Amino acid sequence: MDIYTDVLVIGTGVSGLYSALNLREDLKITMISKGKIDQCNTALAQGGISVARGTNDIDLFVNDTLKAGSYKNDINAVKILAEESMENIDALCKMDFDFDRDNDELSYTREGAHSINRIVHYKDKTGKKLEETLLKQIPSRKNITIFENCTMLDILKKDNVCAGALCIKDDIQFNIHAKITIMAAGGIGGLFRNSTNQKILTADGVAVALKNNIKVKNLGYIQFHPTAFFNSNEHERKFLISESVRGEGGKLINCNGNRFVDELLPRDVVTKYIYEEEKNTHTSNVYLDVTFMEEEFLKNRFPTIYKKCLENGINISKEPIPVSPAQHYFMGGIEVDTFGKTSMENLFAFGECSCTGVHGANRLASNSLLEALVFSKRGTKKINKNISNIPMINIDSPSLNYDKKYYEDLNNKIFIESLVKERGDIKNELVNC
Ligand code: SIN
Repeated sequence: MDIYTDVLVIGTGVSGLYSALNLREDLKITMISKGKIDQCNTALAQGGISVARGTNDIDLFVNDTLKAGSYKNDINAVKILAEESMENIDALCKMDFDFDRDNDELSYTREGAHSINRIVHYKDKTGKKLEETLLKQIPSRKNITIFENCTMLDILKKDNVCAGALCIKDDIQFNIHAKITIMAAGGIGGLFRNSTNQKILTADGVAVALKNNIKVKNLGYIQFHPTAFFNSNEHERKFLISESVRGEGGKLINCNGNRFVDELLPRDVVTKYIYEEEKNTHTSNVYLDVTFMEEEFLKNRFPTIYKKCLENGINISKEPIPVSPAQHYFMGGIEVDTFGKTSMENLFAFGECSCTGVHGANRLASNSLLEALVFSKRGTKKINKNISNIPMINIDSPSLNYDKKYYEDLNNKIFIESLVKERGDIKNELVNC
């Protein structure tokens, strides 16, 4: 069973969906999702989406992003991110994204290392709302077909030209031949013992890039979010306690009830202080205290966190929340230009699996959904313009003799070997090392 399509999109998080929706409606678009359609990191994002507060804020937003990223960022990509942030939030508003508002005006919150309040949000489930908003648009696009529970095992290629992907669904392997392939395969957290990510996200995009000599970048840049709900079960995904809780005034305290850090420093810095505090106090976690806030406010502003903590025996209006850092985001990935173009012809990459260099060594809070929006929009504009001149390349199936596990193990091994080469210190954090 071979499928022929104009554009293959691998992944159905924000980068995949927003790409598909911004592609021309006369193109046949095929999307695949490794798990269920919304089993992606987008749907887990809580805090919000950063946006410049008008053109006067662009320089400050750029500076905040660079400072958080330890100035290892690609400055050109950062400028694009800030400059094109507003038009993408406007586009979401036009899709009836129900952002929280104060008297009809967008409500902006604060998160770590932002100099001002510039994060638009929907309660503490911005990502879920974004995923739902984009998915709602899909049925009206008759040119888009989505296959769930469909894993990409490898790309199809001839020389250095991508021609689609080898996939597996319900134990049946098949080729999806495409003029353009978009890798929007998400993050790497499924390879870590403690991560806020979906378990099924195991660096597939980057592994396949490594295997096919496609350029990758900054593999050592991995972000640990300071505040995941602490429990000692390493086999469970860690529940995020959004940075916006600290943005709204939440305080970090140690086991003796003492504050030990400015909560709104960049993420990597707060994480470092927490690890030090845990070491100094011989404990496995610290606490995030919001007990001084009104219970009604907490229930309304952070309904998901309130409910999840209650299910775990913590009423956050009465007791501090036990938290500890967990792997959260991958700043490295498949090297791309500012249109998401990879080093392989006809292959683009957007979102967490790509590396525009925009985040530097440490991503500024709430810049991930924004990056996905801005760069997938730019990339798809370019694809729309050029695709009519791109022929379909017919490639024979590379080999249908291997099973899914063979490819998955191989992909994991290739990625982990490259990662550990750059970050030997991370070995103990990985599941299979
Ligand atoms: C959070 O809400 O803390 C996560 C948002 C992000 O990763 O930027």
